[in-house]
Amino acid sequence: MLNFAAAQQPLPPEPRTPSLLVGAAWYPEQWPESRWEADLVLMEQAHIHLVRIGEFAWSTMEPSEGNFQLDWLQHAIRAAEKHHIVVVLGTPGAAPPAWLTQKYPETLRTKEDGRKDEHGNRQQFDWSSPKYREFVVRVTERMAQRFGHDPDVIGWQVDNEYATESYGDSTRAQFQQWLQAKYKTLDNLNRRWTTAYWSETYQSWDQIPIEETYGNPGLLLNWKEFVSDTWRSYQRVHLDAIHKYAEPRQKITTNMMGWFDAYDHYTVAQDLDFASWDDYVGRGHLDLARNGAAHDLTRGFLRKNFWVMETQPGFVNWSPNNTALDKGEVRAMAWHAIGHGAEAVEYWQWRSALNGQEQYHGVLVGADGTPVPLYAEVQQLGADFEKAAPTLTGTTVHSDIAILQDYPSRWAIDWQRHNKSFDPVSDAIVPWYAALRNQTHSVDMIADTAPLAPYKLVVAPALNLLTPAAVANLVGYVRGGGHLVLTQRSGMKDADNSLYTQRQPGPITELLGARVEQWYALEDAVPVEGQWGSSKSPKWAEQLGVTAKDTEVLMRYGKSNGWLDDQPAAVTHRVGAGRITYIGAALEPLAMNSAARWMLSTSGVTLVMPDLPQGVDLAVRSGGGKSVYILTNYDAAAQTIALPHAMTDVLTGSTASSITLPQYGIAVLR
Ligand code: GLA
Ligand code: GLA
Repeated sequence: MLNFAAAQQPLPPEPRTPSLLVGAAWYPEQWPESRWEADLVLMEQAHIHLVRIGEFAWSTMEPSEGNFQLDWLQHAIRAAEKHHIVVVLGTPGAAPPAWLTQKYPETLRTKEDGRKDEHGNRQQFDWSSPKYREFVVRVTERMAQRFGHDPDVIGWQVDNEYATESYGDSTRAQFQQWLQAKYKTLDNLNRRWTTAYWSETYQSWDQIPIEETYGNPGLLLNWKEFVSDTWRSYQRVHLDAIHKYAEPRQKITTNMMGWFDAYDHYTVAQDLDFASWDDYVGRGHLDLARNGAAHDLTRGFLRKNFWVMETQPGFVNWSPNNTALDKGEVRAMAWHAIGHGAEAVEYWQWRSALNGQEQYHGVLVGADGTPVPLYAEVQQLGADFEKAAPTLTGTTVHSDIAILQDYPSRWAIDWQRHNKSFDPVSDAIVPWYAALRNQTHSVDMIADTAPLAPYKLVVAPALNLLTPAAVANLVGYVRGGGHLVLTQRSGMKDADNSLYTQRQPGPITELLGARVEQWYALEDAVPVEGQWGSSKSPKWAEQLGVTAKDTEVLMRYGKSNGWLDDQPAAVTHRVGAGRITYIGAALEPLAMNSAARWMLSTSGVTLVMPDLPQGVDLAVRSGGGKSVYILTNYDAAAQTIALPHAMTDVLTGSTASSITLPQYGIAVLR
């Protein structure tokens, strides 16, 4: 039967904006309404099609309890609409008004030293307070009632940069209840935390403290998991409030912070429609590996494209020396984000607030209301995005390689680094990421429980803590024919942050046909050599022992502390069509690159444009039958790149089979 009602539905409206967006954080509440038009004209001239508003405006939205004033927001959205600018609305929980925390002091967070936070900065709220949640729900519901059907509101940002916990008695009681729900009995908890150690044994739930950095490792891990679950439930009440009134076309996110690890981002991200993050370089210049890996980390939260919700217009105000990015580098940084799967790049902030804590921060328009020098560069970027949007629509990053990272592993190492200078991100994840990405131009970064079958190579740097689910996933991957590489410190702890009763890598030792005999924290790097050349292992070295006849030794230590002399430093073991490799040494970049080349060829990964000139970055996005190459030259000298075939640069319209780019020059090629 024909469904006439459906047949007569109007066609969906034309998208109101390009599919790649340049945006800005705009604070209309800080300015007289008579000024808004001038700002929006300047935005439109810069091809800015997106503003985020509202995330700190609670005292303007609800100046006294229950007295909601949202007309100004409505006016701001309508004014933006006239300039083809769409809106992401921020819920204002990160900045509660003074009347609220004064009348309901239980909504203020308790700091670690037991003192209450106070009004005057932001993030002074207690994320676990039921009373606080009542208030954020009420204001969010009002916003959603009012704007949930607004055609120009395309999405929501919940709160702003979740970060700060509370340590008061009511939070502690919630933590104890959380533990009770998890362990059921104290016997169980005592056993799994090995509380016989130092007479830590608990006789009642209310004896259990909160420990943040030094304490029983099981307790430390559970506190972090509680913190993560509590951010998730804090976010949940916002999501419910929005869903109650808003159209599902309005997508919801929160702005995360790259490598920040105060909570498990996989826990929090799972309820969002899309992931986003605030991408700040701070002092110095864009670090392609560290920043690119953070983009890929964010893309990995929901395994799809993401947004850069905030980024720096040249410089910030919070680093020890707030140097500016070079001319051209801001535009390159935005394209770097797009290459890694971003769909929007938003500058924080549009215009300097006249007062407030961030007067020196980079902006696009100064306190005087006129553009700063960087404005022209963002204008060029806006024009780029308009040109390239049709080409990039429907594309994302596809990789044959996954790097696994997980929060419990990073926490577990950080709580007991053993060598203070061993940083799991800087010394394990990022260096391996860099070596692999430089040769392949695409890497996925995902959780250790994500599906691995799509990958030819899976690398787990310092995956210290392996849950049973992760073990099953990794073993299944190898048995299914994949190549798994584990590096230093992997497979030491179980889901309780207890030591495994097998040597590293714990339950996968047998599959590896080798084990870690002993680990050594180092003052001086030790020599290591073999299949991947001669190198040195700084900070940490693991002495490996081979237990299966067919395990192959790839690298050995040279003469050092006696214990390590001539001992295996890297081994590999075939398992049916699959393979597992363990690398117990850290390597210097040259050897790491050679190890990466070995991993790629052993795993049958095919390389696109492997020999790029120095300083040239390539990102590939594909989908819908098209492949788009984004090339950027970060080298001070102009570089000429030979393309695999003649390609068209969608930014300039020219077609060629080789291209020369000046420093910070960009080509978007089809
Ligand atoms: C001290 C303590 C022991 C143990 C060692 C570790 O000597 O008495 O319980 O903590 O340090 O070095
Ligand atoms: C963070 C915040 C913004 C602003 C910027 C400044 O990302 O979300 O409100 O403070 O930092 O860099």
